[in-house]
Amino acid sequence: MSEYPVNMNVKPDVKAFFDPATNTISYCVKDPSSDACAIIDSVMDIDYAAGRITYDHADELIEYVRSNGLKLEWIIETHVHADHLSAAPYIQDKLGGKIGIGDKIMVVQDTFGKVFNEGTEFQRDGSQFDALFKDGDTYNIGNLEAFAIYTPGHTPACMTHVIGDAAFVGDTLFMPDGGSARADFPGGDAGELYDSIQKVLSLPDDMRLFMCHDYGPNGRDIQWETTVGDEKAHNIHVGAGKTKEEFVKMRTERDATLAMPKLIIPSLQVNMRAGEVPTDKDGKPMLKVPVNGL
Ligand SMILES: [Fe+2]
Repeated sequence: MSEYPVNMNVKPDVKAFFDPATNTISYCVKDPSSDACAIIDSVMDIDYAAGRITYDHADELIEYVRSNGLKLEWIIETHVHADHLSAAPYIQDKLGGKIGIGDKIMVVQDTFGKVFNEGTEFQRDGSQFDALFKDGDTYNIGNLEAFAIYTPGHTPACMTHVIGDAAFVGDTLFMPDGGSARADFPGGDAGELYDSIQKVLSLPDDMRLFMCHDYGPNGRDIQWETTVGDEKAHNIHVGAGKTKEEFVKMRTERDATLAMPKLIIPSLQVNMRAGEVPTDKDGKPMLKVPVNGL
């Protein structure tokens, strides 16, 4: 990790928001030395059966930022989520801030532009986002210096965001007893995921790690925070020196048994557009279902 500007002496305030509908954890990360903050992986509520979108979860984040007098500088997506819709544009409209994601979003847009048979009006250049991060790119949240690391495997555009002594891993890792995320979506790769996890595990042992999801395995309460040291020692998929071969075999066999996430169809269409709902030829918000396309 020596090539990355790790600074464990900086300790941002992290407030977590759990969404029970999708088991997603969104975060507000605040610079302790100013009012600046960032929101990571927000959630827009959808009743997919009814085609109804609401904003209760996003409003909770917005209320938190407002009531604490914070200034929102960044709205970060760790990746194009397949299990929930991002509320980034809704939050940006209310609070400002720049929407950022990894520059490999272009690969994801190309893949799913084909799956959803999008026309040329759907740009595959990431231009729906305000910032596209490359490996090692730094950015500021007030006086905090943050940086992003490529951690592909779950999807090609996955990045881990490191802010002081806190790293937001997206779906690269789950809590130690949850293991890791699936790697079988188009563009996913179990071997790449293993390598990405090793990058995260090469951060300092006492680095705080914040998950994007938790499903409370074996009936335990929902948790979202651990450390690099804890993952290295105890992660059921990669801890205690599991080899790449062991991991790829386990991940491939396990992924073959998993059903598609309930919200993958609306999530991809919205999230590859930085959280904007697509519109039809008359400008009406409209989602598609590609038949046997996934
Ligand atoms: Fe994901």
